[in-house]
Amino acid sequence: MEIPAQYKGREQAYIKHTLLETYLFKLFMIIGQSQPTISYVDCLAGPWQDASDDLSDTSIGRSLSTMRSCLESLRKKNPSVRFRALFVEKDAKKYRRLKEYLDTLETPIETESFHGEFDKVRHKILDWCGSSFTFFFIDPLGWKNIVEVSTLEPFLHRNNSEFLINFMFEFILRAHQIPEHEEDMIKIFGQVPQTDGMIPEQKESCLVNLYRENLKRILPIKGRKPRSATVPIQRPDKDRTIYHLVYLTRHPLGIVKFMEASEPLDFVQKAVRIQAKHDKKIETTGQGELFGAFENIKVDQGSVPISMVKEYWLKQLTSQPQLFGIDKLADMLEETGWFESNFQDAFHELLLEGKVRNLADEGKSKRSKKFVHFNANHNSGEQLAKVVT
Ligand SMILES: C[S@@+](CC[C@H](N)C(=O)[O-])C[C@H]1O[C@@H](n2cnc3c(N)ncnc32)[C@H](O)[C@@H]1O
Repeated sequence: MEIPAQYKGREQAYIKHTLLETYLFKLFMIIGQSQPTISYVDCLAGPWQDASDDLSDTSIGRSLSTMRSCLESLRKKNPSVRFRALFVEKDAKKYRRLKEYLDTLETPIETESFHGEFDKVRHKILDWCGSSFTFFFIDPLGWKNIVEVSTLEPFLHRNNSEFLINFMFEFILRAHQIPEHEEDMIKIFGQVPQTDGMIPEQKESCLVNLYRENLKRILPIKGRKPRSATVPIQRPDKDRTIYHLVYLTRHPLGIVKFMEASEPLDFVQKAVRIQAKHDKKIETTGQGELFGAFENIKVDQGSVPISMVKEYWLKQLTSQPQLFGIDKLADMLEETGWFESNFQDAFHELLLEGKVRNLADEGKSKRSKKFVHFNANHNSGEQLAKVVT
């Protein structure tokens, strides 16, 4: 696997676009089987930093091609399903390019564009969405009048919506203790975050989790409890987070599919970092290492110690069998930020050690990867228990 040439020097954008595309495909293929209309809104569209005429390296191009593939794949299951896409951009020059692109594009997707500042056109966006299922992609360059919970509130009240928000962590980390940004911090977090005495990793989880909690406070009139997950995107040349892609949904299966889409990217991000360090070494010493990034990554995989995941499992289980379905899996993914494969591997080890039971798979198991079928019995799952000796 190679990072496409047009993403050279902006590998973060490749990770972001791949996550967007992978998750949108999974989501639309599920939602598109039952909903008559699917809407997608790119609230800060660009085109931005693209290196291709067909915008294939932008969120505009990649979202439209994903919707097109979904529409084609859904033809048999739901032939009347409609896909609509709205792109919002404030910069006049960029907007002209966007409009020209959309006007000349041959696509079965119903496209629309608005020229203006996101916060000023919020109600126009909401009108355009109507009552259809809508996915909002919010990808700013900063935070002002965009990612604050107060700015997003009219959208968060909406039913039938999902969000992917670029939380500009690096900027916010720098600003969160500066007195002149206090008011903004309250709009983002609901309070001024207190991070004195924390190590960098603690500060990062404190800030991003506070934001996630604050987003979840705004509820639509009906619908299930809000849930969120996040994917940290690292600077390729440094082991440092540049931003978090914060995902918000009211559907437990959404969390499961989002984490499924982000798992392979964890691998790609590590490879990108190894490659960047490798390139830097060549630049400074004129000498590279023998192996490429994707060979080296195998050694570096599995960042969550399995012992920790096993311990977590044992805390979830009781001697009395309980159903572990999609709801429970979503709780576990949301709480820990780990992947389903971490839970499957740990449960397998516990089974081999005779510490747990899966009542749906007793005796000689033929299972090799998924030791718990969380989606069995229409997503109610399987009965699991701790073995008490
Ligand atoms: C990070 S770029 C978007 C990149 C794009 N999502 C992608 O991945 O290809 C942000 C874009 O939003 C535009 N923008 C910034 N502030 C805005 C605002 N308040 N309302 C609408 N657009 C805005 C910028 O001109 C820029 O084109």
